[in-house]
Amino acid sequence: MTASTSPDAAKAFRVVVFASGRGSNFAALLNAQKNDALPVEICALLSDKRTAPALSIAEDAGVPVIALRPRDFPDRLSFDTALFARAADFKPELIVLAGFMRVIETSIVEQWRGRMINIHPSLLPKYRGLRTHERAIEAGDAIHGASVHYVTPELDGGPVISQVRLPILKGESPVDLAARLLPLEQRLLTATVRLIAQRRIELGPDGVKVDGNAIAAPLRFDADGSLLP
Ligand code: GRF
Repeated sequence: MTASTSPDAAKAFRVVVFASGRGSNFAALLNAQKNDALPVEICALLSDKRTAPALSIAEDAGVPVIALRPRDFPDRLSFDTALFARAADFKPELIVLAGFMRVIETSIVEQWRGRMINIHPSLLPKYRGLRTHERAIEAGDAIHGASVHYVTPELDGGPVISQVRLPILKGESPVDLAARLLPLEQRLLTATVRLIAQRRIELGPDGVKVDGNAIAAPLRFDADGSLLP
């Protein structure tokens, strides 16, 4: 059977994106998909915020949107159970957290282990959590960056798949640094999702595997989203 007649060849790699805010990383994934630079089907956008700008981006692109409000649920577990059940309806092979600003219940994270990634604006393991740009500047770091990692119950602590770096300029503000990093993040996320969709990356029992081999350090991408040797 040739690749073109294989049933698997026609089957799109199904992705669901979670976002709470602006949605520029989500938009980057959509654009790449539209330009045939990302061989995936973006099946839905899920959110915990009904007013997130990311929702309009999805609606404009004709991507189904599901937004549930945490305050309509008695606790975190029931909210997460409901949201992830809606995500599961789309039968995604991958969930991408792209600016999803909530801690997810451990039992739910475990169900999606190896099938859920997050983009984080720091060179993990440095600066888990918030205010990453400010903390990197305060620490006097010369280099900052972003990471894509598999999501595990430890906040921003899962195995790191890929990173992009950029130098911190002298006297630069956190806002300026964040603005310079954002397009690099978007290219990093897109390139990483592409490799996962091509089934070149997976989470093994001992960490991230690329082409079947465990990697000792995260993959490095340049500012344009090309894999560095
Ligand atoms: C990005 O900086 C991402 O790294 C972080 O949240 C931000 C989301 O931005 N997790 P956007 O909503 O994708 O524009």
